[in-house]
Amino acid sequence: MRPPKILVFAGSVRTGSYSATLAALAARELALLGAEPVRISLEDYPLPIYDADLEAEDGVPQAAEQLREQLALADGVFIVTPEYNAAVPPLLKNAIDWASRAKGAGSGSASGGGGHDPFKGPVFAIGSTSPGALGGYRAAMMLRQVLALGLSALVLAEQAMVPAAHQAFSDGGDFKDERQLDRLRGTLRALIDQSALRAGLRA
Ligand SMILES: Cc1cc2nc3c(=O)[nH]c(=O)nc-3n(C[C@H](O)[C@H](O)[C@H](O)COP(=O)(O)O)c2cc1C
Repeated sequence: MRPPKILVFAGSVRTGSYSATLAALAARELALLGAEPVRISLEDYPLPIYDADLEAEDGVPQAAEQLREQLALADGVFIVTPEYNAAVPPLLKNAIDWASRAKGAGSGSASGGGGHDPFKGPVFAIGSTSPGALGGYRAAMMLRQVLALGLSALVLAEQAMVPAAHQAFSDGGDFKDERQLDRLRGTLRALIDQSALRAGLRA
């Protein structure tokens, strides 16, 4: 039986981003836990700010279709969000908004997941980071609302929040504190298990 495919990305493309650092660490841990991580950066999916006029004139941008495709091919998705003014950053919300407008090329094909709703297939888990004490908790709650209420996605209760993120990681991108690694692994294990179950990879 194949391992569950888990898409991993962060809502920041900043050099040295704590969220991207957590996403990279999560991808490494997912591989160690027996999953197949697929790590992407939103840097590779450049999108204008969503505008319905733009969509009506030019359609959905290629990058949004590609992001949709990545979601549709995944059994699970781990998204790490930073917190901007107690919310998800516009980069992440905009990417989700555009992906939710994409229809999927090759609808009905076996390869690209075209046609079906890419937010209703995979199981989602949330990570968040912040230099502050709350670990991006408010952004994580907003992301949960967007995914679960806005897009009817299945979002796990388990989530990985990293407070004081500017001090949390070693130069190599590992956690300095073993307990944080244990908490991340707990979330990732739940994501692997639920993704495999939902994809019919495990009884
Ligand atoms: C516009 C803006 C608003 C911010 N608001 C918050 C906030 O509400 N809570 C918080 O913990 N950090 C806030 N920050 C600080 C970010 O957590 C910090 O810049 C962090 O490094 C961004 O995540 P990244 O490292 O993944 O890029 C804000 C930063 C910016 C630029």
